[in-house]
Amino acid sequence: MIPVMEVCGRLRWGPQKLVIPEYAFGLDVEGHALKLSSEHTEYRWVDYEACHEMLHWDNNRNALCELNHRILHGMTLAADITGEGASMTVTVPKTDRLERVREVVDAIICQQPDFDQARCGYVHLYGVALLCVQLAYKRGLDTQLCGVAGMLHDISSYRTGPSPDHPRLSAQEAERILGELGMFTCEEIGSIATAIAQHGAKEATNGLMAELLKDADVAQHYLYNPALKPERRQHPRLRRAFAELGLSSEV
Ligand SMILES: [Fe+2]
Repeated sequence: MIPVMEVCGRLRWGPQKLVIPEYAFGLDVEGHALKLSSEHTEYRWVDYEACHEMLHWDNNRNALCELNHRILHGMTLAADITGEGASMTVTVPKTDRLERVREVVDAIICQQPDFDQARCGYVHLYGVALLCVQLAYKRGLDTQLCGVAGMLHDISSYRTGPSPDHPRLSAQEAERILGELGMFTCEEIGSIATAIAQHGAKEATNGLMAELLKDADVAQHYLYNPALKPERRQHPRLRRAFAELGLSSEV
């Protein structure tokens, strides 16, 4: 757990949320070529004592201590690396994937210059993701992948700013984020990116995940505040989504 104030500078999650969970991963990379992602600039190999000295946070030191103990005592590591060279694959429990994506999204929204923009980001992205999961259960689609699509569907609006081209830009961002996480197959990344790229065309009919994302996007706006009447061209999509969720719609 890490203290909220020292990470965000204020009580971002309300006065009662003083600490948030942090996850640390130890991987055996011997024999593999390392390639840094865009959020890192350099790395250095050091022994346990030097690393312990360099770390600032107690929770990082605890994680290092656990890793050192596991290695010294021949215990298994939490993650395993298979594959050769640059194409190595990290095996991570699938249940962690949506939460890892949320951590990336949180870090992006955390950078918003004003509270209203950050609030809008949290409410809309988490709201659409929740509706995506609900509709995925109804339609028999992959609930986790649909939730990820919801979390990332407008991410460029918060990463680089609003743009009419945000579906395409968000699809590009989603590909980058999911690729760097190393927890998704190329096929999964492709299907999520395609759905995000198509989600702006609300009057067109696309693949199953894209249609689900469009329905969730439209429904979230209306559920956030029913007084905000949706555009007439979105009424049929909203009526269908509401009926599917067992809700009555006034539109
Ligand atoms: Fe949206």
